Amino acid sequence: MTQPAVALVTGITGQDGSYLAEQLLDQGYHVHGVIRRASVFNTDRIEHLYQDPHEQDVRLHLHYGDLADGTVLRRIIETARPDVVYNLAAQSHVGVSFKTPEYTAEVTGLGVLRLLEALRDHSHRTGRKVRFYQASSSEMYGSAPAPQGPETPFHPRSPYACAKVYAYHQVINYREAYGLFACNGILFNHESPRRGETFVTRKITRAVGRIKLGLQKKLYLGNLDARRDWGHARDYVEAMVLIMQGDEPGDFVVASGESHSVREFAASAFAEVGLDYQDFVEVDPRYFRPSEVEHLHGDATQMREKFGWRPRTSFAELVAEMVRSDLKLAERELVLQKAGHDIRTRGTSL
Ligand code: NAP
Ligand code: GDD
Repeated sequence: MTQPAVALVTGITGQDGSYLAEQLLDQGYHVHGVIRRASVFNTDRIEHLYQDPHEQDVRLHLHYGDLADGTVLRRIIETARPDVVYNLAAQSHVGVSFKTPEYTAEVTGLGVLRLLEALRDHSHRTGRKVRFYQASSSEMYGSAPAPQGPETPFHPRSPYACAKVYAYHQVINYREAYGLFACNGILFNHESPRRGETFVTRKITRAVGRIKLGLQKKLYLGNLDARRDWGHARDYVEAMVLIMQGDEPGDFVVASGESHSVREFAASAFAEVGLDYQDFVEVDPRYFRPSEVEHLHGDATQMREKFGWRPRTSFAELVAEMVRSDLKLAERELVLQKAGHDIRTRGTSL
């Protein structure tokens, strides 16, 4: 296919959105991103990509919007006239979804339907063919035994996972009913120095940096025995782009093919700075979930065979990169502390 020139990315301010925008801009796309209004800046992860709209040849365009607001999504599609839409926006925290199930269903589930409906009408009215990518999740497999692949039945174990399963099926239905080039990328966990600080990997590496420099004494975690198939977000957004540049739509599993426990992640991260995790990590049941996904381990054979995709970053390299980055962040915090600033950790970690 000829490369689509205009991409619309919802969730552009998130971990994946920021890496995806980078890659699309590198490939020559015009990128339109949907951002939410917030009372504090929420564009840190794309600050380095920002282009002053007064300049010429600007290729990054930001629009205020929300997946809960169908009118504005329609307006953005009419304005941006994308060739491809990457829907990465979601209430993406599994733990939080137990506390906000209705909101999670509204955004992570129904939000996808709003976008699909807007695209259906746009295509009908203009005759334009727009491709659609949905950020589906390995969390949908829930308690299905590992390894999980394209044929594994879903058994969702959280309000988040139920919302993602709903969205997954809507995407397939729009493909079958209206011929939309709509794909699900079923991505297993992927992390990076840009990962949100309440996901377990980043919570650990932030604490490692701070503990190493004496800014924090303990790290409280929940279930240390849960196993995840962790990869690097940069590698996984490459897979998204390959899927959307493919010849035909489908549903694809993206995974590293290895799984490690939360305990192993913590042990490796503390070992990076010469510490033993057992001296610092304590289990606090407040971080247990009402129902847990114990073991995710993905089979990405289909991605390898169809697109030649394989992850470039190993588990050890991922841990090392995240620890290095958070050590630097802690060094900056130390400077601030010495200058008299209050640098206690914020809010509740989930
Ligand atoms: P993330 O860092 O939490 O980013 C989520 C993005 O969605 C943020 O830009 C956020 O905006 C935006 N958002 C949240 N609620 C919204 C709403 N109501 N309307 C519009 N935008 C909204 O998540 P991520 O790790 O980059 O993940 C990207 C997508 O992949 C998500 O759909 C996630 O569920 C899915 N996924 C992630 C993984 C993973 O391991 N990372 C695995 C499988 C699937 P703010 O910045 O304003 O909060
Ligand atoms: N967040 C968190 N905080 N998780 C903890 C903690 C803690 O203090 N202690 C143990 N865990 C365990 C969780 O119970 C879970 O089993 C595992 O660590 C991973 O938790 P998260 O990092 O929060 O990620 P997740 O697997 O629940 O969800 C992520 O991956 C999904 C793909 O499988 C998110 O990115 C989802 O958006 C994504 O769909």
